[in-house]
Amino acid sequence: MLQFLMKGGTPLKGEVVIGGAKNAALGILAAAIMTDEPVVLENLPDVSDINVMLRAISDIGASVERIDRHTVKITAGTIHTQRVLFDYVRNIRASYYLIGALLGKYKYAEVALPGGCAIGARPIDQHRKGFHAIGAVTEVTHEGALLARAENLTGHHIFMDVVSVGATINTMLAAVLAEGKTVIESAAKEPHVVDVANLLNRMGARIKGAGTDVIRIHGVEKLHGTTYPIVPDQIEAGTFMMAAAATNGDVLIRNVIPKHLEVISAKLLEMGCRVEEYDDAVRVIGCPHKSYVNVKTRPYPGYPTDMQPQTATVLALADGISMITENIFENRFGYVAELNKMGADITVCEKGDVATITGVSSFKGAAVEAPDLRAGAALIIAGLCAEGYTSVSEIKYVLRGYEDFDAKLRGLGAQIAMVTDEQEILDFIQKTGTMEEAAELFPFLAEK
Ligand code: EPZ
Repeated sequence: MLQFLMKGGTPLKGEVVIGGAKNAALGILAAAIMTDEPVVLENLPDVSDINVMLRAISDIGASVERIDRHTVKITAGTIHTQRVLFDYVRNIRASYYLIGALLGKYKYAEVALPGGCAIGARPIDQHRKGFHAIGAVTEVTHEGALLARAENLTGHHIFMDVVSVGATINTMLAAVLAEGKTVIESAAKEPHVVDVANLLNRMGARIKGAGTDVIRIHGVEKLHGTTYPIVPDQIEAGTFMMAAAATNGDVLIRNVIPKHLEVISAKLLEMGCRVEEYDDAVRVIGCPHKSYVNVKTRPYPGYPTDMQPQTATVLALADGISMITENIFENRFGYVAELNKMGADITVCEKGDVATITGVSSFKGAAVEAPDLRAGAALIIAGLCAEGYTSVSEIKYVLRGYEDFDAKLRGLGAQIAMVTDEQEILDFIQKTGTMEEAAELFPFLAEK
């Protein structure tokens, strides 16, 4: 079974380079097919969600040429179908950006939708609202796909009911080639929303106000090719900031936009950690006695929900009692039971939106399971702090959003490896400790 195996207790030290933002790249890949001319995307993260999108774009006929691990050239003039019904597409949520892109360009789209998701219901009513507003009709087909089509697409003034990253991006994609002006009120302002808008404008779109509550789009006739570097990943950077804090380390996190990390830096300063900002880097220096803090997740520029699990791990080892209120998703505390197996003392209220975290002095290694992407990262950070060995399974979720996560952590001194079989487990233990230390976690070792 694929898992991360780690031996805790080593403060992380050194430098780590952050990759391109997964959640920007997913929207940008969809935007890239809206022109028949070549679009070259740089700083693309090599993670499974991105590779699924690239496969889908190629399978509907676009040319997808990988220039190097982080650069692809997409030429979509050869797309021969607007029906994206491959089963593998159901493994990622963001495939729904292909609806906005195909609808915007071809006035027809039919894309298989994902199944359930661990962190909440995640409806797409606001996406459909945006499509309907500019003249499309949509329906959920018996094959579990969303079909969207339109005679014509005409700009409209849209008042979103919910601040939604996905619906904001999808509506932008559908509207950039529509007739006339579209206004999106209560737009999401995340850095990845801005990055998609920036790419579209590089392609000839006319979008203003991305990053504010109101986005204004003047439709254009067509879009042209370009070359574009994906913005650094705010959440990958934040994850390493929390890992540095949790292990009482000293880490320079490079290739970031400090502005995007301000709310995370502020929270670490509240805890008593040191944070130094540079032009394109931040340095986080942990402290042994962190103060409790309270966290409430909010749409950007509020505290990112995608940072909530990782922050809980740090607070679980802080002094005092912290509260985390999850205001975005209805089920994003799936990791609490797993962290408590390691000795954390966290309770979640009956409604499921508030976690009370009573700091403990240490974690003990255990076998835990990742329920979703960011929870997986939180459990890995916990394992880096725990006494003894920790295994984190179900790491397919982690591989969806973190490129070379174990290698980057090893580069900071962490004792961690991705292992698949008993021999690899044995090798790791022989390098890092003794069979006795790991026997509790891996009973098969007793026979060795
Ligand atoms: C994006 O998801 C991210 N995913 C998520 O990151 C992130 O947690 C989320 O934005 C919030 O920042 C990608 O970008 C691929 P939303 P998205 O639409 O777009 C409700 C990660 O870990 N809503 O902003 O799906 C929804 O249920 C992932 O990288 C509706 O009610 O999030 C939620 O409560 C996890 N109707 C809230 O809005 C809709 O039509 C915010 O969701 C759409 C959303």
